[in-house]
Amino acid sequence: MIKNLLITGGAGFIGSHFIKYILSVYPDYFVVNFDKLTYAGNLDNLREVENNPNYKFIQGDICDAKAVENTIEENSIDAIVNYAAETHVDRSIMYADDFLRTDILGVQVLLEATRKFNLKKMVQISTDEVYGAVESGYFTEESPFAPNSPYAASKAGGDLLCRAFFNTYQTPVVATHSCNVYGTHQYPEKVIPLFITNLLEGKKVPLYGDGLNVREWIHASDHCRAIDAILHKAAPGSVYNIGSGTEKQNIELTKEILALCGREEDMIEPVADRRGHDRRYAIDHSKIIRELGWKPEKIFTDGLRETVAWYKDNEWWWKKLKDGDYNEYYKKQYKERI
Ligand code: NAD
Ligand code: DAU
Repeated sequence: MIKNLLITGGAGFIGSHFIKYILSVYPDYFVVNFDKLTYAGNLDNLREVENNPNYKFIQGDICDAKAVENTIEENSIDAIVNYAAETHVDRSIMYADDFLRTDILGVQVLLEATRKFNLKKMVQISTDEVYGAVESGYFTEESPFAPNSPYAASKAGGDLLCRAFFNTYQTPVVATHSCNVYGTHQYPEKVIPLFITNLLEGKKVPLYGDGLNVREWIHASDHCRAIDAILHKAAPGSVYNIGSGTEKQNIELTKEILALCGREEDMIEPVADRRGHDRRYAIDHSKIIRELGWKPEKIFTDGLRETVAWYKDNEWWWKKLKDGDYNEYYKKQYKERI
């Protein structure tokens, strides 16, 4: 029985959705959110639960073994779900150091702790990007890794450590590979919140290259339900793809966002392509449907409409994020790509 959950990286986009999901679906669980609060960590994401007696926040780095171990001991933790990571591909192209530290060494620290304290399970949240790009067809859980960005390579490193710890020590870890997640509270550097907030500010949207790259989109609520199923039902050592089947070319996605924001195509600014830009990610997610009984529920057009509405109504949340280090980052980013 899992009761006391350690959620690492819970102040970020998907982790904060998962904390709110767990506290509402399992009111008797105790959740510890352990997060370094990098530029992407945001306690505003957790305002609804900050006074919940079953929730505790601890600021800490998953690379700090002592801090992780103390947190596990002091809170009688049963299981870990690891969302902590450096996650933005463009940033990894500028500087990969933090990606390698957190996404590889941080995972090793969590695996060691899972082993040392005989935890019931560790769920490693990872990405479809580890498989690389595919023009047609779909990657299964058996497909070889072929990462193309420093971000994807660092995530692949963390995932391979999970495999190695299970095979070597039978550490009860499960790894997940998800397609692109979207929804509310996503930092406005990723394409959907960046484009929505730019349009709300009257700015153009920077579409990379020819705009024909394809991504598969899943709503954060469906992702939470998938991790719930994996946390409670997946066998140790197993791996699951999490997908939706909703594939979109970036140009198609951009036009849908423009329409929802009441803007025309003249707001598209074609810009130089991302270096090493993967053309298409596509995963076969039939295993999780077959084995764990999960399936995606949110229709993309509904999810996108709700997401746009949320950003329109919550300028207080994103406006301040677009100041500070953000502008510096964008200046550097454009220099890097052009
Ligand atoms: P995010 O960038 O919004 O949040 C990451 C969180 O991790 C932040 O709160 C940050 O403060 C924290 N963090 C970073 N380094 C840390 C460290 N060393 N110690 C403790 N905390 C640290 O990320 P997200 O989009 O919510 O992604 C969460 C996980 O899901 C990541 O592992 C990512 O690779 C994976 N994933 C994301 C997507 C997506 O589309 N967003 C898709 C597939 C997989
Ligand atoms: O596939 C899962 C991955 O999805 C996650 O592992 C990553 O953490 C997450 O960031 C995401 O990676 P992408 O690179 O696919 O997401 P991003 O939002 O950065 O870009 C989506 C697509 O939009 C991609 O083809 C690049 C394009 N793009 C992106 C930005 C930021 C643009 O055209 N313009 C932009 O300004």
